[in-house]
Amino acid sequence: MTRGEEQPQTWHHGIVASWWAEFNLTGPEISYFQKYIEDDGEPALDVACGTGRLLVPYLRAGLDVDGCDLSADMLARCRERAAAEGLSPNLYAQAMHELELPRKYKTIVLCGGFGLGGNRDQSFESLRRIYEHLEPGGLLLLDNEVPYAVAGIWPHWPKEERRALPKPWPELGAGDHRQGSDGAEYELRSRVVELDPLTQCVTLEMRADLWRDGEHVAAEEHVLKMSMYFTHELVGLLELTGFTDVTLRGDYTHEEPSGDTDFIVFIARKPA
Ligand SMILES: C[S@@+](CC[C@H](N)C(=O)[O-])C[C@H]1O[C@@H](n2cnc3c(N)ncnc32)[C@H](O)[C@@H]1O
Repeated sequence: MTRGEEQPQTWHHGIVASWWAEFNLTGPEISYFQKYIEDDGEPALDVACGTGRLLVPYLRAGLDVDGCDLSADMLARCRERAAAEGLSPNLYAQAMHELELPRKYKTIVLCGGFGLGGNRDQSFESLRRIYEHLEPGGLLLLDNEVPYAVAGIWPHWPKEERRALPKPWPELGAGDHRQGSDGAEYELRSRVVELDPLTQCVTLEMRADLWRDGEHVAAEEHVLKMSMYFTHELVGLLELTGFTDVTLRGDYTHEEPSGDTDFIVFIARKPA
């Protein structure tokens, strides 16, 4: 099996998918990207749409937006959310490096998904597939958290820190614990397992636990591989793919990014 044939490894399944549907519903990204779709950007595609944090509000606003995601569980939660509002979006279960959809788009949004799965060849192939799915003159909007903004991972880049990996698991009870809308209790704990600074790839693990009526009913463990990208290498990849007019914005504002920016928004056009 060559590197290009590996399946992307992510933790967005099972309890983690339910967590996303319950607790990840807001954020500045939603209205920020929506404006670009409204400005003559339909039809649009939400790549790695997850449980529909962006997609469902866009559909509610009457926008013509399709969604795709690697995780059938995330898409199932997305479909449920949409159906609860009488909406039935076109949702496709596909890895983004294998994207193959029946129509072309004026706008493609990739929010919080670039580099997930952990294979750099696949990240580059994803950009090529996205490019193919854009109409001439179409716009790609992609966000990327800069590697040095991720407080739990950045300290592990030096050799001495890497030798101390994997980190121990946090104790049960010490993770992020929340109560869902139906009374179920969720807890997520994660740890860094390994980091390769040469490929800029990090491996994380997550333990997800679920309680109903005080009884511990499920425990899952998932792996997330993630390729990390610095800003100018990603600009280079976009240009290599064929995109032009690559513009950078900081933290979902219309300002140029600075060294303090955590999330860089890349706005790139397919030539007309
Ligand atoms: C951090 S969530 C973001 C979801 C959504 N875009 C949002 O902002 O709410 C990342 C999503 O990317 C999906 N994903 C991860 N790797 C992927 C891949 N290689 N191809 C397609 N989707 C992927 C996951 O299943 C998950 O739904």
